[in-house]
Amino acid sequence: MTVRILPFTMADYDEVIALWQSSPGIGLSDVDRPEGIAAYLARNPGLSFLARLDDELAGAVLCGTDGRRGYLHHLAVRPQARRQGIGETLVEHCLSGLKAQGYQKCHIFVYNGNVEGQVFWERVGWKLRTELVIMSKDIV
Ligand SMILES: CC(C)(COP(=O)(O)OP(=O)(O)OC[C@H]1O[C@@H](n2cnc3c(N)ncnc32)[C@H](O)[C@@H]1OP(=O)(O)O)[C@@H](O)C(=O)NCCC(=O)NCCS
Repeated sequence: MTVRILPFTMADYDEVIALWQSSPGIGLSDVDRPEGIAAYLARNPGLSFLARLDDELAGAVLCGTDGRRGYLHHLAVRPQARRQGIGETLVEHCLSGLKAQGYQKCHIFVYNGNVEGQVFWERVGWKLRTELVIMSKDIV
């Protein structure tokens, strides 16, 4: 089977959201509704990708920036397609896109309980930032 890495477009949304919804380790919220993802892709052109094995969706990732750093979100590969390098390849495409736009660092958010996810990120070269925690506030 041939793996193809393709740009993530809104035409793929229904398949991708179904993959994310079925992937433990992916936290979804209101901003993942179609209008939120459409806005994100428009704001961050050329950085988000998906993988197809033949024609079937195998994986997807969102990537964007805040103008200073890159961020990856929602990397998921369907269970039957894992351990074939698809996750790493998707990440490489994002990082190449960021580099081409002049970005020098990229961050990810990983749930504490997502041990498999953390192992993946460490194996593909990402460093755990023990000196940082995430803090958030709802803007009402
Ligand atoms: C994390 C995830 C995207 C990895 O996708 P993948 O396509 O299987 O990853 P790759 O095949 O590119 O793996 C690259 C390397 O990471 C490591 N790795 C990946 N999954 C691993 C696992 N479950 N356990 C141990 N090591 C793992 C391996 O070293 C692997 O290389 P190898 O197979 O040659 O040993 C996939 O497991 C997934 O979708 N998980 C659920 C969603 C999730 O947690 N996403 C991360 C959110 S932060």
